[in-house]
Amino acid sequence: MTPLRRAAAAIVTAASLLVAAKTVVTRAASHPAIPEFHTSDRCIACHNGLTTASGDDVSIGYDWRASMMANSSRDPYWQASVRRESLDHPESTAAIEDECSICHMPIPRYGAKLRGEHARVFSHLPFAADKKEGRQAADGVSCAVCHQIGRQKLGTADSFNGGFVIDAPEDPNARPEYGPFEVEPGHRRIMLSSTEGYRPTQSDHIRDSEMCATCHTLLTQALGPGGRPVGRLAEQVPYGEWLHSEFKGTQSCQSCHMPTVSEPVPITRVFGAPRDGVVRHVFVAGNFFMQRMLNRYRDALDVAALPQELTSAAERTIQYLQTRAATLRIDTLQAGAGMLRADLVVENLGGHKLPTGYPSRRAWLHVTVRDGGGRIVFESGGLNPDGSIRGNDNDADATRFEPHYAQVRSADQVQIYETIIGDVNGGVTTGLLAGVGYLKDNRLLPRGFEKRTADPDIAVHGAAADDDDFIGASYRVTYAVPVADGSGPFTLDAELLYQPIGYRWANNLKTYDRAPEPQRFTSYYEAMASGSAAVLARSTRSTRP
Ligand code: HEC
Ligand code: HEC
Ligand code: HEC
Ligand code: HEC
Ligand code: HEC
Repeated sequence: MTPLRRAAAAIVTAASLLVAAKTVVTRAASHPAIPEFHTSDRCIACHNGLTTASGDDVSIGYDWRASMMANSSRDPYWQASVRRESLDHPESTAAIEDECSICHMPIPRYGAKLRGEHARVFSHLPFAADKKEGRQAADGVSCAVCHQIGRQKLGTADSFNGGFVIDAPEDPNARPEYGPFEVEPGHRRIMLSSTEGYRPTQSDHIRDSEMCATCHTLLTQALGPGGRPVGRLAEQVPYGEWLHSEFKGTQSCQSCHMPTVSEPVPITRVFGAPRDGVVRHVFVAGNFFMQRMLNRYRDALDVAALPQELTSAAERTIQYLQTRAATLRIDTLQAGAGMLRADLVVENLGGHKLPTGYPSRRAWLHVTVRDGGGRIVFESGGLNPDGSIRGNDNDADATRFEPHYAQVRSADQVQIYETIIGDVNGGVTTGLLAGVGYLKDNRLLPRGFEKRTADPDIAVHGAAADDDDFIGASYRVTYAVPVADGSGPFTLDAELLYQPIGYRWANNLKTYDRAPEPQRFTSYYEAMASGSAAVLARSTRSTRP
């Protein structure tokens, strides 16, 4: 059985979320020592102020604090979603707050788990900066979380869903803080005494994708009436997708998301000799939109990163998306008899599906045809200022969605690379704990991914499964559209757009208008929706005059 399959089996056999919580109590009783987590301010004191010889600031603390992981509990979309799930499944509120905090608010949650309690989310809000628990809750996926994750269980099904193990220290006065480098004893002591018990410890497992997979594999259990389990959903499986791709043997999660500094640089401002192979803690990926939201509403959201740091982080994200995510080319273009025919080829450059991760992400094709006079004679997939896509059935009506197209023939057909989640009745849903499977998953596959041998949790769903041009890392889609109103030469502009939080996902939270968190998030979304998408790649071509 593959790790994903085993995880699936583990989830299904757990009769309910509460049963899962009970097993935790037994584990806590046999745990030798309760781990402690310092907050990042303690680490940033020494691991900041790092510049390369050529003048680039590569400070670990500044880079990390503008990343999504440093803001995983301040994230207003996460808070709104936890509230929504609690309102949808009122009998399971305690189990839901516990589950949703495993990865997003890991420090308080790990403590609660060891005490055999359910972790709370809303009792920490707003974050109390003058209390230790408040600072720990706000700190998100903090330095001390990742760097204390031990080798135990990594790569197994038990490690998924946030099942990482924080190593209990052999010496209660020295917790291992794992890193890639050998550190000499004198330098180890400096950190140990200043942090009152954290000792830098070399271990290669920190460089493995399996470390990231602990939180980046999320298999949820759907809840029916009375909190009964009714099915399961592979909500986020980038690690499983990566395992089935050719990147498995060549590039780890870290190698793409934590770029290596190209010259030697110290890793601490005290006693740091320059080292080769230092990585940046930027965790760059796709969510420029939330980085901008955190910045714009920084006071209300208790954001610690400075405005300039978040501005640069969002720009870095856009830059990454425009250079590393995808390519697009127009392969053939012909006009005749009132029709224009074009083959578009999209290629995914990333190490997993595009998009991957949280199911609100979507990428799509915006295609415009102009006639000889510059007049638009055809358009599919334009973005509206409210964040919706023109012609997308799902944005117009929550119960419907666009199928995958092998051929686009009219303006109301839009090629959207996305997941659509189905509930127990086969209806479309954005409720994470209502989802039991995918009605559609035509997200672009990474290089080397063979769809016919894919495990069910990473499978292609809907019409793309039978589309022979939907293979490998590059996809061909044909546009055969009417242009009878115009006269040539025709010019086709194609853009591959990407939106971290699709209109439907944000909009469905509007009905929870009496709860403060959904209300706040949807008002932020509306204020910023016109900037909710970025162009990943574009291409232009004209027919011969
Ligand atoms: C196993 C770890 C894990 C658990 C448990 C978890 N999440 Fe997440 N969540 C993630 C990761 C990782 C991402 C980011 C993925 C991405 O960027 O595509 C994420 C992203 C999100 C986002 C999108 C945030 C944004 O700014 O776009 C929301 C909303 C969210 N989670 C809600 C929840 C809710 C509600 C629960 C509880 C039902 C939950 N999460 C439980 C790991 C987890
Ligand atoms: C999401 C997990 C994660 C978080 C959060 C995190 N790190 Fe790291 N860190 C890593 C990984 C993984 C590596 C090694 C990557 C490699 O070499 O491929 C690393 C490397 C390091 C190193 C060695 C130097 C380098 O950059 O290569 C130091 C020092 C360090 N981290 C300190 C910190 C501090 C301080 C924080 C908080 C401000 C932090 N880390 C937050 C995962 C994390
Ligand atoms: C008093 C300064 C100081 C503080 C505070 C401090 N460190 Fe360190 N840290 C160091 C020094 C010195 C080294 C070794 C540098 C070297 O050898 O190049 C180091 C190394 C590391 C490494 C690399 C270990 C390896 O084997 O690669 C990690 C990871 C790390 N620290 C994480 C943290 C975390 C997490 C915190 C907060 C809990 C923290 N540090 C707080 C000084 C400090
Ligand atoms: C303790 C759990 C945890 C671990 C371990 C972890 N992550 Fe995350 N990661 C998260 C959560 C939670 C989010 C989503 C935060 C949000 O959007 O609110 C996230 C978000 C991210 C994002 C941002 C995605 C976006 O949409 O911009 C990247 C990139 C990322 N993680 C990479 C990594 C890498 C690489 C590793 C391993 C070195 C790792 N993570 C380990 C929990 C974790
Ligand atoms: C070959 C480079 C590469 C590798 C390897 C890679 N990624 Fe990514 N990742 C990307 C790119 C490019 C993006 C931005 C485009 C996108 O959203 O897919 C991205 C986006 C993401 C996102 C945000 C997705 C979204 O759309 O919100 C998460 C989360 C993530 N990666 C996690 C991982 C994890 C976990 C691994 C290891 C199992 C991994 N990545 C391996 C290149 C890579």
